[in-house]
Parts: sequence; C-alpha cells; structure tokens
Amino acid sequence: MDLTHAVLTRRSAIRLSAPAPSDTELEELLQAAMTAPDHGRLSPWRLVTIRGDARNQLGEAMADAAGDDATRERTAAKALRAPLLVAVVFCPRDHPKVPRWEQLAATACAMQTLLLLLHDSGWGAIWRTGTLIDTPQVRELHGISDSEQLLGWLYVGTTQTPRTPAPRPPQNPAEKITQLPTPDAVPVPVSALARSWTTISSLPLVVEQS
Ligand SMILES: Cc1cc2nc3c(=O)[nH]c(=O)nc-3n(C[C@H](O)[C@H](O)[C@H](O)COP(=O)(O)O)c2cc1C
Repeated sequence: MDLTHAVLTRRSAIRLSAPAPSDTELEELLQAAMTAPDHGRLSPWRLVTIRGDARNQLGEAMADAAGDDATRERTAAKALRAPLLVAVVFCPRDHPKVPRWEQLAATACAMQTLLLLLHDSGWGAIWRTGTLIDTPQVRELHGISDSEQLLGWLYVGTTQTPRTPAPRPPQNPAEKITQLPTPDAVPVPVSALARSWTTISSLPLVVEQS
C-alpha cells in the first residue's frame, strides 16, 4: 500500500474480532515502527500484550477500579472489545539532552507508525485510554512502576465493518500554517508583521517607503 493511501484510509476500528496478529507479526511491525523519530534513540516505552483470558484479568481490574456494582459487567467487558490489546507504557528516563516531553512525543510517533503499519497489513486497531487508566488496580496489573505511565491500549484485531474509509470532516491545513518573514523581505508595518504570525495568507503587504 502506498504511504499516502495508508495515511488517508486508516480509520480507528471500534468493533474488532479474531484473528489478531501473532506475536511474531507484531514484533516485525514494531521493528519497523521503531524507526520513528526518537531523540537519542531511547525507545522510552514498553508494550504489554494482552490476549485470551488475560483480557478478563484486565476487565476485572477495571471493574474493581470503577467500584460500581451496577456497571461492573459492562466495564469488565470493555477489555473484550478486541482479541489483542497492546498496553502502551511510557518509561521516561532522565537524560541531559532529551526532556520528558520529547520522550513522550517519540513514544506517540512510534505508536502512530505502528498503527499505520497495522493498517497497511490489513489489521484494524484503535488507541483507547479511558478514565480507569491511572487507577492502582489497572497500574498494578500491568506492573507500572512509579516512574512509568500507562498511555492506553492499542486494541487490535480484524475489522467487522467494510474497509471503506468513513469520510472525515473537512480540514483547512492552510489555517494551520503561518510563515516567518525572511529578514530581507520588503519592510512592512509592524502592525501587519504582528498579524502575519497568525494569518500570513491574508497579510496585506503595505510597503513603507522611507
Ligand atoms: C492517546 C490517545 C487516547 C485515546 N483514547 C480514546 C478513548 O479512550 N476512547 C476513544 O473512543 N477514542 C480514543 N482516542 C481516539 C481514537 O484512537 C481515534 O483516534 C478517534 O476515534 C478518531 O478516529 P480515527 O483514528 O479514525 O480518526 C484516543 C487517541 C489517542 C491518540
């Protein structure tokens, strides 16, 4: 699959059934995903795969954490929404040049690359978190240490719905881009320059003659 096509057609899959990628296949995709931008190549994350009955353990931990008998069954069933859950654990470390936020960004880069590669291989997936993610029961189940943070689960499996990508709301990328004027550009009034930081496309280039 062409990369642009993969980016444009990837959709998070809400309903996922068996089969899921094997451990070997997941490792192969992860090896490719680990080429994502990563300052210092720290790979400041680890993954925990949860399959089969292990999903029930997660469901029970979530239900215990929620502590609501009325919704217990529904909460526990959340862990069964895919045949494979891949818990994403952020493991930042102290580094003289790579602050924590860069390590978090690198982790997100790797996970998005993995999501794209899963899609490219025909698998469905969705990254989910939820309100119970930081509860002691859920943290303990994954063996999350005090210095680590659980960033959610990649629910992975086979999509039940047709793979025709749903339309996305229209976006205007031009609104997201401003242009820093070059120093040798024609002089413009300071007021217009200030505006150029937000809307370069509509900047009236009024030249001031001295
Ligand atoms: C870190 C992270 C956590 C997310 N947590 C949830 C979640 O708990 N529940 C949910 O419905 N979507 C969650 N999302 C959003 C979905 O993964 C997905 O991006 C969204 O449904 C849009 O679908 P799309 O990927 O097809 O554009 C999360 C996304 C990220 C990056």
